[in-house]
Amino acid sequence: MAHIHDEDIDHILLTEPQIASRVQALGEQISRDYQGKELLVVGILKGAVVFYSDLIRRINLPMQMDFMVVSSYGSSTDSSGVVRILKDLSQDIQGKHVLIVEDILDTGLTLHYLTQILKHRSPASIEICTLMDKPERRKADIHAKYVGFTIPDAFVVGYGLDYDEKYRNMPSVGVLKEEVYRRG
Ligand code: IMP
Ligand code: MG
Repeated sequence: MAHIHDEDIDHILLTEPQIASRVQALGEQISRDYQGKELLVVGILKGAVVFYSDLIRRINLPMQMDFMVVSSYGSSTDSSGVVRILKDLSQDIQGKHVLIVEDILDTGLTLHYLTQILKHRSPASIEICTLMDKPERRKADIHAKYVGFTIPDAFVVGYGLDYDEKYRNMPSVGVLKEEVYRRG
């Protein structure tokens, strides 16, 4: 179906059915891995919210939800590695199995910093589930146990991901036309 944002998109990278089937597989894998454990699924707002809400409905285990808001200083298409927590978890994570759900792992600086902070709170374990991974851009030593799609180095939007707070409501993931962020 045509979408209001189509004219700004160079091409679609991940279609709705592609995303849905991958999310289903990730949910099954997570359900197997955390069998019998106390699972806390932490979504990083706002980018992960669409992925998060689809993913948790594919996790066939009792689990708890929580969210963090972080901001990384830098331009809108690049992060700097200096991360500020704007909203922290609303509970203690000591002894819990924490699964961080993120939209995209780019330089890795944001999640590197965040996992360092959370590790100090003595969780039983801490792992990352990211919808997309852009390994070419990595600057920090960070590994995501669960990766939806490994993608090339391009700026993508949709399915929760934004450019300048737009495009989050696109149901698929597309590569943004360069002219859009050049003029931006
Ligand atoms: P990192 O610290 O460089 O790994 O940055 C991760 C964050 O940057 C993600 O959570 C996104 O908010 C944002 N980001 C990185 N790449 C993209 C992209 O291609 N499109 C939209 N946001 C992105
Ligand atoms: Mg963003």
